Amino acid sequence: MRYALLGAGGQLGRDLQSRLQGEVVAWTREQADLTRPMDLRAALEALRPEIVVNCAAYNLVDKAESYPAGAFAVNAWGVRDLALACRDLGCVLVHFSTDYVFGLDENNRIPWTETDAPGPIGVYGLSKLAGEYLVRSLCPRHFVVRTCGLYGVWGSGGKGGNFVETMLRLAAQGKPVRVVADQSCTPTYTVDLAAATAALATTERYGLYHVTNSGSCSWYEFAAAIFERSGIKAELAPITSREFGATARRPAYSVLSTSAYHALGLPLLRPWQEALAAYLDERGRKNRT
Ligand SMILES: NC(=O)c1ccc[n+]([C@@H]2O[C@H](COP(=O)([O-])OP(=O)(O)OC[C@H]3O[C@@H](n4cnc5c(N)ncnc54)[C@H](OP(=O)(O)O)[C@@H]3O)[C@@H](O)[C@H]2O)c1
Repeated sequence: MRYALLGAGGQLGRDLQSRLQGEVVAWTREQADLTRPMDLRAALEALRPEIVVNCAAYNLVDKAESYPAGAFAVNAWGVRDLALACRDLGCVLVHFSTDYVFGLDENNRIPWTETDAPGPIGVYGLSKLAGEYLVRSLCPRHFVVRTCGLYGVWGSGGKGGNFVETMLRLAAQGKPVRVVADQSCTPTYTVDLAAATAALATTERYGLYHVTNSGSCSWYEFAAAIFERSGIKAELAPITSREFGATARRPAYSVLSTSAYHALGLPLLRPWQEALAAYLDERGRKNRT
């Protein structure tokens, strides 16, 4: 099996490279830019992969509010052209989306399923939802994988790290750490998502799937677990999203039901607490080498 992997320089892309079974040709943004569709199509025509995995995205949630064109150029129009190229070349397209396609229904506290109506409340989520629809309508053999709160040892380049690293950095600076307690989701370790994606990609059970670690928590609870597991006594306080004052609104509850993925006979991903422990162990090993 030959794979083309886009967004290979990102945190998920890096962890996927070693987990896809077969020949993996990994492209960073410099080697395959979603906003340069002719070059990308030519590269795919030359390579002739069976499966294209797209980890590339415009992920700057707050900046997207004032720069929708940038978010849509990558997450919608670039993805549209990729989907068309995959259709024309007969490739399977594995594409990632986000829990931020939800949020409009502020009262729901039941994990969202793939058949629930999405309703984004920010430009980033809207651009990702547009990308989902374009993949689903244009490329028949697709997997659209919605996931949530990613963290991996490589950190998100665009965001300059990940939530766990941000928490550890703030605690090391000895500053009080204020974290939103009114947004719940399921933080997900990129290693676990990469393994799950590798298993899903070859099933031929095409469609839309939610894939995250198990369980759920608020970002405040996640931060508390990071400090507890790391043996750090931080001055941690819960705040509201309003107090935090981010530019973009985020869903209050974006926990995703993963039962459709599990119904394929694939194992549920481990609880987020175990995934966090594994991440901290891996991080420790990486820092020692
Ligand atoms: N991070 C999260 O919490 C989260 C949550 C839910 C869903 N997701 C989704 O999961 C997927 C993987 O996210 P991630 O956290 O691994 O992201 P990431 O670490 O930020 O990686 C994204 C990669 O995309 C590249 N990229 C940006 N614009 C591009 C373009 N025009 N053409 C080609 N590559 C481009 C970036 O390159 P540069 O480094 O050069 O900018 C970066 O290497 C994305 O689809 C994302 O929307 C992420």
